[in-house]
Amino acid sequence: MREAATAPYSTGMLGNDDPGERDRLESIQRSVDIFTRNVIDGLPVQASWNCLELGAGAGSIAYWLATRCPAGRVVAVDIDTRLLDAGRAANLEVQEADITQHDYAPGSFDLIHARYLFCHLPDRDEMIARAVGWLSPGGWLVVEEPYDLPPGTSPFPLVQRILTAYQHTHRQHGADMTWARGLPALLARNALTEVAFAGNLGCMGGLAKDRWRPLIERAAPALLASGLVSDADLGAFTELLEDPTFVDIPQMTISAWGRREGGDGETG
Ligand SMILES: C[S@@+](CC[C@H](N)C(=O)[O-])C[C@H]1O[C@@H](n2cnc3c(N)ncnc32)[C@H](O)[C@@H]1O
Repeated sequence: MREAATAPYSTGMLGNDDPGERDRLESIQRSVDIFTRNVIDGLPVQASWNCLELGAGAGSIAYWLATRCPAGRVVAVDIDTRLLDAGRAANLEVQEADITQHDYAPGSFDLIHARYLFCHLPDRDEMIARAVGWLSPGGWLVVEEPYDLPPGTSPFPLVQRILTAYQHTHRQHGADMTWARGLPALLARNALTEVAFAGNLGCMGGLAKDRWRPLIERAAPALLASGLVSDADLGAFTELLEDPTFVDIPQMTISAWGRREGGDGETG
């Protein structure tokens, strides 16, 4: 029996017991992996780096880091590793652990990356401080989190209802989908230098019509339980995704990064 410290992953709203979770995670990967890779490629990545991928999910970024740092190693940690393939690369280590309980030796990693993890964690700010402690001198922390846009500003009344329910259920299950805005300041307060950030606008419908389908399907029981949407709304939403004129911007991803002082990797 897995002990999940984080609410959505312990209440069953999210988690790998549902066969739809792989679809949801792969949909996330398809929509943001390019953005994430661009952010990390902007850092002075060395082939010998030791990397830690926190909350690795279905693994795409951990696998990519393993090819990016062939002379180093990548530790991919998740509270549930059933969707991770430990045999994917010789320099990849898959660890099953609750990151809020697990610890690493100070100064272990040249790069620590997390995406869509901290929003689900209790004591997020303290977790950032712990992750900073695991960085080697000169090492980089990259954190990418969702920032929900106000549902009432959607031009589609149905989307207003769906997103109101979606955001409400995430809050009810302990997630904070606006915490990302404070990330740059939080990294700076944790004594990281060269703090910078970028954003990636999410797309619902349009060319990414299959992006949100798995997310809403996966959340459907919780959305219906909230009483804020009906079965008919969810059916109408599925139809709306097929409408070639439907396109909306439900949220953005904020990526923020910073570097621990020291080491010989001073960058200009
Ligand atoms: C929304 S998914 C994101 C997956 C991946 N980072 C991505 O962006 O494609 C969040 C991941 O964090 C993991 N997770 C949640 N709480 C965790 C914890 N306390 N310790 C380790 N992993 C956790 C979940 O199992 C899940 O795989």
